[in-house]
Amino acid sequence: MTQIIIKNKSEIEGMRKACQLAARTLGEAAKLLRPGLSTQQIDDFVHQYTLAAGARPAPLNYHGFPKSVCTSVNEVICHGIPGPRVLQNGDIINIDVTSVLHGWHGDVSATFLVGEVSDAARALVKTTRESLMLGIRQVKPSARIGDIAAAIQEFVEARGYSVVRDFVGHGLGRQFHEPPQVPHYGRRGSGARLKTGMTFTIEPMVNEGVWQLEILKDGWTAVTADGKLSAQFEHTILVTPTGCEVLTAFEEPLVNSVSIDDEGLRIVDAT
Ligand code: MF3
Ligand code: CO
Ligand code: CO
Repeated sequence: MTQIIIKNKSEIEGMRKACQLAARTLGEAAKLLRPGLSTQQIDDFVHQYTLAAGARPAPLNYHGFPKSVCTSVNEVICHGIPGPRVLQNGDIINIDVTSVLHGWHGDVSATFLVGEVSDAARALVKTTRESLMLGIRQVKPSARIGDIAAAIQEFVEARGYSVVRDFVGHGLGRQFHEPPQVPHYGRRGSGARLKTGMTFTIEPMVNEGVWQLEILKDGWTAVTADGKLSAQFEHTILVTPTGCEVLTAFEEPLVNSVSIDDEGLRIVDAT
């Protein structure tokens, strides 16, 4: 296990730019969402937008991943492969964008509500979003990775949901995935101590039912073992002397069909 890389000032500036591009790409992709859109159309957009910005989509060919973005609908936990699947009224979809700009990685995802979504789906997405925010609030120098994990797990399980174990947040920089691993379940006071200049993601995946998953025959798509819903939100974080900076914070897309409700959820009109 190698050391956690501390980024210097100019490296942080590189991270900031890559993260802002990833966030902007996600916000723009969200504006396309509507029933009838295929996940392939999201991929086409993210691919073109990324190249036009002078960047590269990190997922494409990453360990053989065939597309430029991950699109995970309903029971898909993560690593959904864009294709012919068409969004339906009532779906939830996570779009996970990772951009590489001048060699630096920015990684961000959010789950969106398509049209009229069930109260159960809405509640799951809301809890998942809040669990990320709660995790982010634990980040400061001398806190530990386990403090983030425990805060998220306690919050999620208190609401009757489960936290996915098989996938974790991760350090990133020149590499897509580097130390540390950032689990979303665990004990307070455990794990590596955070230091100013570390950059990593927090990206809780929260299931309506059991935490167990299956991988489809495509070798990528992770689905809930019980077929129930799963949601995810992700930000790339920089540890600062006073706490942290959310490098992938973005302007909420308020135009076209996407709006934000009072619970902070991003909604795409059915019409
Ligand atoms: N963006 C995902 C993450 O948050 C990783 C996707 S790997 C891919 O870590 F190959 F599926 F793109
Ligand atoms: Co990530
Ligand atoms: Co991601």
